[in-house]
Amino acid sequence: MSILRMTTAGESHGPGEACIVEGIPSGLPLTRDEIDVDLARRQRGYGRGDRMAIETDRCRFVAGVRHGRTLGSPICLLIENGDYANWVSKMSPDPMSEETTSDMGRFTLPRPGHADLAGVAKYGHTDIRDVLERASARETVGRVAGGAVCKRLLQEAGVTVRARVLSIGGVRVAASNDMCRAEDIDWDAVEASPVGCEERAASDLMCARIDEARGAGESLGGVFEVWCWGVCPGVGGYASMEDRLDGRLAGALASIPAIKGVQMGVAFDSADEVGSRVHDPILLMHDGDRRWIGRNTNRAGGIEGGMTTGMPVVLRAAMKPIPTLTTPLASVDIATLELSSAHVERSDVTAVPAARVVGEAMAAYVLAAAYLSKFGGDSVKAFAESVRSYEAGLEERGLWRRF
Ligand SMILES: Cc1cc2nc3c(=O)[nH]c(=O)nc-3n(C[C@H](O)[C@H](O)[C@H](O)COP(=O)(O)O)c2cc1C
Repeated sequence: MSILRMTTAGESHGPGEACIVEGIPSGLPLTRDEIDVDLARRQRGYGRGDRMAIETDRCRFVAGVRHGRTLGSPICLLIENGDYANWVSKMSPDPMSEETTSDMGRFTLPRPGHADLAGVAKYGHTDIRDVLERASARETVGRVAGGAVCKRLLQEAGVTVRARVLSIGGVRVAASNDMCRAEDIDWDAVEASPVGCEERAASDLMCARIDEARGAGESLGGVFEVWCWGVCPGVGGYASMEDRLDGRLAGALASIPAIKGVQMGVAFDSADEVGSRVHDPILLMHDGDRRWIGRNTNRAGGIEGGMTTGMPVVLRAAMKPIPTLTTPLASVDIATLELSSAHVERSDVTAVPAARVVGEAMAAYVLAAAYLSKFGGDSVKAFAESVRSYEAGLEERGLWRRF
């Protein structure tokens, strides 16, 4: 069985963020530029903090790629932190006296909603910086770089992964619950929007809502939607709990910092409906003499029984408001146990547009892993041939049709 594994390392103000992706077949065309496109998309977004102005994330291959193609060995990607120059001594790995570290100032006022308090309890730290440097969502830079590699592999199987923002701070777009055709979404408009939302009017309202929140020292959350299309049926599995693709996708998306809810298709809306209005009827499609089984709704979000149905896989993720507030909530100093206010640090007002790009990366990672475990292949040629041969078999039996 081919196993795809992605791991990241790096502190928010350390020298850089690294991602190692193991299990990508050999011969996959890959350039830094295509990874940098996603890194830039993660950095953009109305409502992000000042840090984005001082960083321009670019990736460097440290291992696994030669002459524009993967070697089949672990791929190591490195993204330097532009801000590190200002943190060299504060982040130094070299031993330092208590006196020097306390001169640098300790961070002792945990922020409600962040990893600060549970993190110091868990690791025995006395400076919350030792927690937040890794708990910070800067870590998602590595995920996005690794996810871009997974997306590139999925392209070889005819699969595209994209996401858009549906709401920020209660300003919503009216998204269809049929979830059938990714082509009906204007993805260029999504990218052109400062908040990753295709509707111009809603986009403007979201920006106004963000300005209002910034003025009030507040932060905002929202919902984004990830689409994976061109997916064939039968990826994932029902035989064991680990095989179920919905469980793996939900886990991967919920592992993104601040993501607190994930749904497949219309999940939460379907809970209040009767079955006949939720399940997607199985229909017979015709084109001349050709007949095949298809659907004209996709409320299941492209997954039934833990497997892909051949319709687009559509997931929605809810992001809570950013924990760091410029008008901070109550907190207690962990050094003195005195009641105070939470630490204030440079922060985003909202990061839903950026989180959507991380959502793409996580969905691509899970889907690429499921594809590799089903189709195998030490070389990308063998992988793509295996996918094509399986899809041809499905088309021959009239069980699916690729468009
Ligand atoms: C792309 C992205 C950017 C984020 N930016 C910030 C930020 O600037 N300030 C902040 O306090 N939290 C930010 N967060 C959220 C925190 O990282 C997250 O709330 C924290 O790690 C605690 O984890 P939890 O919310 O999953 O419990 C961001 C999250 C993402 C996905």
